[in-house]
Amino acid sequence: MSAAAPTIPNSLLLNRHKPTRLLSPRPFAVRCTAATQTAAATPPTASSTRLFNFAAGPATLPEPVLLKAQSELYDYQGSGMSVMEMSHRGKHFLSIIQKAESDLRNLLNIPDSYSVLFLQGGATSQFSSIPLNLCRSSEDSADYIVTGSWSDKSFKEAQRYCSPKVIWSGKADKYVKIPDFDNLEQNPDATYLHICANETIHGVEFKDYPVPKNKGGILVADMSSNFCSKPVDVSKFGIIYAGAQKNVGPSGVTMVIIRKDLIGNAQGITPIMLDYKIHDENKSLYNTPPCYGIYMCGLVFEHLLELGGLAGVEKMNKKKADLLYQAIDESKGFYRCPVEQSVRSLMNVPFTLEKSELEGDFIKEAEKEGMVQLKGHRSVGGMRASIYNAMPYAGVEKLVGFMKDFQARHG
Ligand SMILES: Cc1ncc(COP(=O)(O)O)c(C=O)c1O
Repeated sequence: MSAAAPTIPNSLLLNRHKPTRLLSPRPFAVRCTAATQTAAATPPTASSTRLFNFAAGPATLPEPVLLKAQSELYDYQGSGMSVMEMSHRGKHFLSIIQKAESDLRNLLNIPDSYSVLFLQGGATSQFSSIPLNLCRSSEDSADYIVTGSWSDKSFKEAQRYCSPKVIWSGKADKYVKIPDFDNLEQNPDATYLHICANETIHGVEFKDYPVPKNKGGILVADMSSNFCSKPVDVSKFGIIYAGAQKNVGPSGVTMVIIRKDLIGNAQGITPIMLDYKIHDENKSLYNTPPCYGIYMCGLVFEHLLELGGLAGVEKMNKKKADLLYQAIDESKGFYRCPVEQSVRSLMNVPFTLEKSELEGDFIKEAEKEGMVQLKGHRSVGGMRASIYNAMPYAGVEKLVGFMKDFQARHG
């Protein structure tokens, strides 16, 4: 061993592939500030290697957010460590989670009478949390509107913890509709009415919401795939929940916005991690939260506020969706979208080819042009373009150009 070796921290000796400036032995008193400052002085720029990613989730994130995260990855704002490495109870992370909550409150104009929770377990764990927290026992009833695979899954999970009833299902029509609210037979004794605001697989989106006629006036919505894509009047809901990985961050964070009076009534069998009261009392820090994911969501909320808020975001989303649906509708049947026009999703656009044998070629050729993840969900086939907030207009323009060219060659 050389004489200098003992002065090199073990962690650096292990990382031989790291850049030399990080490897050079230095006194412990000298921190890696030079490297950090260099990174900050020349922020990374957008790369032409990025693809247009039409995935349904995890999905594309805003480039400015990725670049900001990249610039802060190694040393978060002079803290000397990455957000991934810091204590969730330390001052830096506390200010990250508090700002994320306050920015989300601003974005959605969330009333003070609602709590905002940053949880784990995906929207899927909310399928269980909701009946467990809202129903006193398995005897309690709940109304479910089933407009696609996700609301179907949430209904099936609720069957374990309460007595839910499907009061409307679009299954017979292959999930292409939203019901007429006036004709819904809601149970006045139900504990809550549950909807999926946007069916990610079938591309069906509620444009307005049914008024709950149950005793507590409780409407619960799974907004996983259209969360923060447009303004929403939160006061119409008892609970809004959403997995982050479509519009607002990486997978691993689940947001729950809940009317405060609905907290604290969980069934005795509720696992502690599914009890809203525990998370509310501990400000989402009962156990170690998904810190980096929450940080990323916070950057996205900040970015959406910088864009001017959700009204502007919705306008842009409409512009993108109009362009794509118009291309489908004007293709004289070469492309088809099965969903009823008035409830077509601004986020997930499913479509098929009249000549279904060409769908494989369509997907492969699009991939070669830098447009990926266009394959429809395995349960429905065809294609699906997810055009969340972070999909640039240019991405949709490119897709539409490609669709026209493909039709010209194969029509
Ligand atoms: C509308 C909707 N609800 C629920 C889920 C399940 O979310 P998770 O995988 O985060 O549990 C998804 C996932 O894609 C979804 O799109």
